[in-house]
Amino acid sequence: MPMSVVSQSMSKANTASPTIHDTILVLDFGAQYSRLIARRVREAGVYSEVVPYNISLDEIKKRSPKGLILSGGPASVYADNAPKIDAAILDMGIPVLGICYGMQIMAQLLGGSVEHTGLSEYGDAQIEVKADSVLFKSLPKVQQVWMSHQDSVGNMPKGFTATASTSASSVAAMEDSQKGLMGVQFHPEVVHSPHGTGLLKNFLSNTCNTKGDWTTTSFVEETLEKIAQQVGDGKAICAMSGGIDSAVAALLVHKVIGDNLTCIFVDHGLLRKDEAKRVEEVFAKHFNINLKTIRCADRFLSKLKGVDDPEQKRKIIGNEFIKVFEEEADKIEGANFLIQGTLYPDVIESGGAKGSALIKTHHNVGGLPDDMNLDLIEPLRLLFKDEVRKVGLELGMPEDVVFRQPFPGPGLAVRIIGEVTASRTDILREADAIVVEEIKNAGLYRKIWQSFAILPAIKSVGVMGDTRTYSYPIIVRAVSSEDAMTADWVRLPDDLLQRISSRIINEVEHVNRVAYDISSKPPSTIEWE
Ligand code: XMP
Repeated sequence: MPMSVVSQSMSKANTASPTIHDTILVLDFGAQYSRLIARRVREAGVYSEVVPYNISLDEIKKRSPKGLILSGGPASVYADNAPKIDAAILDMGIPVLGICYGMQIMAQLLGGSVEHTGLSEYGDAQIEVKADSVLFKSLPKVQQVWMSHQDSVGNMPKGFTATASTSASSVAAMEDSQKGLMGVQFHPEVVHSPHGTGLLKNFLSNTCNTKGDWTTTSFVEETLEKIAQQVGDGKAICAMSGGIDSAVAALLVHKVIGDNLTCIFVDHGLLRKDEAKRVEEVFAKHFNINLKTIRCADRFLSKLKGVDDPEQKRKIIGNEFIKVFEEEADKIEGANFLIQGTLYPDVIESGGAKGSALIKTHHNVGGLPDDMNLDLIEPLRLLFKDEVRKVGLELGMPEDVVFRQPFPGPGLAVRIIGEVTASRTDILREADAIVVEEIKNAGLYRKIWQSFAILPAIKSVGVMGDTRTYSYPIIVRAVSSEDAMTADWVRLPDDLLQRISSRIINEVEHVNRVAYDISSKPPSTIEWE
């Protein structure tokens, strides 16, 4: 298979939005929460995509959405470079819900006023529903919401009624139900607005008339059809990492093309305990996938010899991974597709929501070759992580694989400070297995974003029996997080920490001390390197 020509082409099957289902477009004004809005809409069974706020009128028409949601955003509508939309968007006959900045821009464009009253509201607030309202139908008259704004709507545009207020703003929500235009000053998408989901559902079903039939099952059915159209009797390859994304992507494609799919699993020797064995059990034995495991720990370790700079380690592992993958892919005659487990957040982050092709680079298995003459299949590029998990379960993947905590592509190497050697990797792998086992036994594994062990490059003095020891400490890290951008250390129960500590010190040779990392991100990071 020639590897020379750059081709990151995407078939239509990958980029087009599903048209069979109702779609809600979220116009993103740079809010922290735009993705969350789309997720909430999807949780209500309606397909939703995040698009840039400056999407053209034509593009909106092409996608024929059943409704639009204007997100919040950090700007003030009066700021010089405040993001604006074409007012015609509000006159297309498509229902629009404006959230926070989205409501303010709606008010301004339709002839109302937005004021800087000096009365900002941040955090919990109480609203009182004032008038008959489509959005608040069947919801409590007084309810808690989450606010984050400085500006407020002063005069509403013609045709609008104020449907809710707070002590600080008389227009906490407004609507023109005739035209299907409505706005809320608060954030219904966050959990701190307990009735927010109900409000969004009211918008979806009462105003947009959506059917709510977007489910994991329908996603799988449609995706299998698209893959069949795209791949036909072609051959595909996939770098399987053991993680959920590549596994679910591969399983979907395998369902369509069977043995015309070859998965390459590079065991670089930096995996968690028994991870390689489990990947083989599940994918080769249980699912009968054509899986080639390449055991090349020595090759990676020899490249890592004497290297202790974290970036250097990452680069070496990434490059070596690509080399091994290319060597193996070269042996597969006639492969014309490459499967990647790209997820929706990666697509949005890279601006790919406009439909541009994207190769996942940083947070995947070391970054895959971008100069292969292969067409991409990215069956998950419209899904969020929790949706991928649901698809995995639907396809029959075992729960321990579906709910495995995220693991970095460079593996244990970024948790070994200093030189990565076979013996230091073994120490860490054993300690890590104890951490994971005890956290699972305590019933906490799924509640925690990541929990693992780190091996620093220092030794300290201890005493075992009558003998003085001079050995490594192990650091235990457990963090809670939504998306790995921020994280907090988990307050693990004392008795659990005690069990982890005594088991590691008793069972893992060359360790005489255990410490618990109590730093959050930022300013720390989740991994130590
Ligand atoms: P940090 O340490 O930056 O990690 O807070 C955030 C999340 O990303 C994972 N991570 C990586 N994943 N390749 C990966 O595939 C990498 O090089 C890499 N570095 C960090 C980390 O495990 C956490 O979930």
